[in-house]
Amino acid sequence: MCAFSYFTKLKSIYNLDMFIRMTVQIRALAEASNDYIPLLSNASALLNENLENINWVGFYLVKNDALQLGPFQGKIACVNIEKGKGVCGTAYEKDEVIVVEDVHQFPGHIACDAASNSEIVIPLHRDGKVVALLDIDSPLTGRFEKKDRDGLVAFAKVLEDLINWD
Ligand code: SME
Repeated sequence: MCAFSYFTKLKSIYNLDMFIRMTVQIRALAEASNDYIPLLSNASALLNENLENINWVGFYLVKNDALQLGPFQGKIACVNIEKGKGVCGTAYEKDEVIVVEDVHQFPGHIACDAASNSEIVIPLHRDGKVVALLDIDSPLTGRFEKKDRDGLVAFAKVLEDLINWD
């Protein structure tokens, strides 16, 4: 195996380990409290500590069929986002994971931090309905690859099942 593919393989094993480790950690944190404010707060801190090349990570919560800012790490962000607006509002409306390689090419993208160039948004559910969105921004274009998407979707699934949304 050439050095390049060896390092690529090592990196993907490392990423897999990282997502498994984060899943173990979020389960342990949920034992202290699974109320949504402490758990989403620590989830954003956990993601911020572990993911490289990101400049914002946090949650938007569904309120009155729109989105309101929840726990996050990063710069001050937009507080209210309408359904169907921006990447988050679109992911909410469609109940879809959205990966944006270049936010400048996404019509209606809401720029909270001018440093952001790519983004991933993942819906979280309660009883099959979207109740929150995980939003992660990166200063790198095309930061979120398939392995990141798969790892983050799995993490979000564990998180949504652990949380007490009341
Ligand atoms: N860029 C998002 C808005 C939220 S910030 O990135 C924190 C969007 O277009 O929905």
